[in-house]
Amino acid sequence: MKGLILSGGEGTRLRPITHTNAKQLVPIANKPILFYCIESIKNAGITDIGIVVGSTKDEIKAAVGNGSKWGIDITYIEQDAPRGLAHAVLISEDFLKDEQFVMYLGDNLIKGGINEFVDEFRRNGANSQILLARVANPQQFGVAELFKGRVIRLEEKPQKPKSDLALVGVYMFDQHIFKAVKNIAPSWRNELEITDAIQYLINHGYNIQSHIINGWWKDTGKLEDMLEANRIILDTLTTEIHGFVDDDSKIEFKVVIDNGAEVINSVIRGPAIIGGNTKIINSFVGPFTSVEHDVKIEDSEIEHSIVLEYSLIKGIKGRIVDSLIGKNVEVYASLLKPKAYRFMLGDSSKVGIL
Ligand code: G1P
Repeated sequence: MKGLILSGGEGTRLRPITHTNAKQLVPIANKPILFYCIESIKNAGITDIGIVVGSTKDEIKAAVGNGSKWGIDITYIEQDAPRGLAHAVLISEDFLKDEQFVMYLGDNLIKGGINEFVDEFRRNGANSQILLARVANPQQFGVAELFKGRVIRLEEKPQKPKSDLALVGVYMFDQHIFKAVKNIAPSWRNELEITDAIQYLINHGYNIQSHIINGWWKDTGKLEDMLEANRIILDTLTTEIHGFVDDDSKIEFKVVIDNGAEVINSVIRGPAIIGGNTKIINSFVGPFTSVEHDVKIEDSEIEHSIVLEYSLIKGIKGRIVDSLIGKNVEVYASLLKPKAYRFMLGDSSKVGIL
């Protein structure tokens, strides 16, 4: 069995972060989302994985490499434009050949992994197996309609959903999917939808199995989902202090402090993770916060946030919450006169001030 990870999307709902970064590389608890996908496929016993990449291919290749750090083989498959998930399958036929495969959307996170589903698919002889989860906002997903426990219809982002069962971004297929992706037309958003390809299989009498998953699942396309994913993963940490914590500081609850980090006269209240060479000085880092490596936080308070590498937060009077702060960002109290707000913000930035 092979794995196929789709990592080509543009991440429009996470701009401006995604103007310069692949959304699949935004870290959750200081590890790129994409790495969780790779690890969960590997844990299911699959070591031959294709990654479909788009405009952010260089960055993804640099981060993932040839797979040797996980003991697996990675093959890159280039998609010239975001033409849909079914298009990604279409261009991967040479890599997948006639093997069964699991397709994993590179911005999806499923706590607890996919082993049991992959094992079952290996055994049950289905042509496809899909995972479903109950959601409050089915309009934003592919939605399944079941009859006596079997999927009878799938619809991509319906205005009037027939159920609250969303398609989770992990799918299992055999080689019949290639016939389906070659026989569907682009949708209103001009993409070849995998949802339509599975509907084709249903219409042509193929065996589609579905599972309603009860565990936690997140499509991290938006900031609030990203912060939620970060909360859930941080909560699984156990305390590990490798960096330096001075006697005036307090570390509370589950906190990871990486090598070379320094915590001076500060309170870190977990669950939280502080990356290598980061300095936290006279500050409070509150629950559900991930701070990447080489960050400096001084005379400030922050919680329920993600801070990427090489950024500076200094002298901020109000507490920073619910934030995603990119790389090389500086947020600081200015001493210049007149006393004023001074911004240099990228396109699609969002700033909430007191
Ligand atoms: C895609 C699929 C959708 C599925 C979702 C899961 O949506 O088209 O059916 O429910 O992933 O994350 P997209 O991320 O392309 O909007």
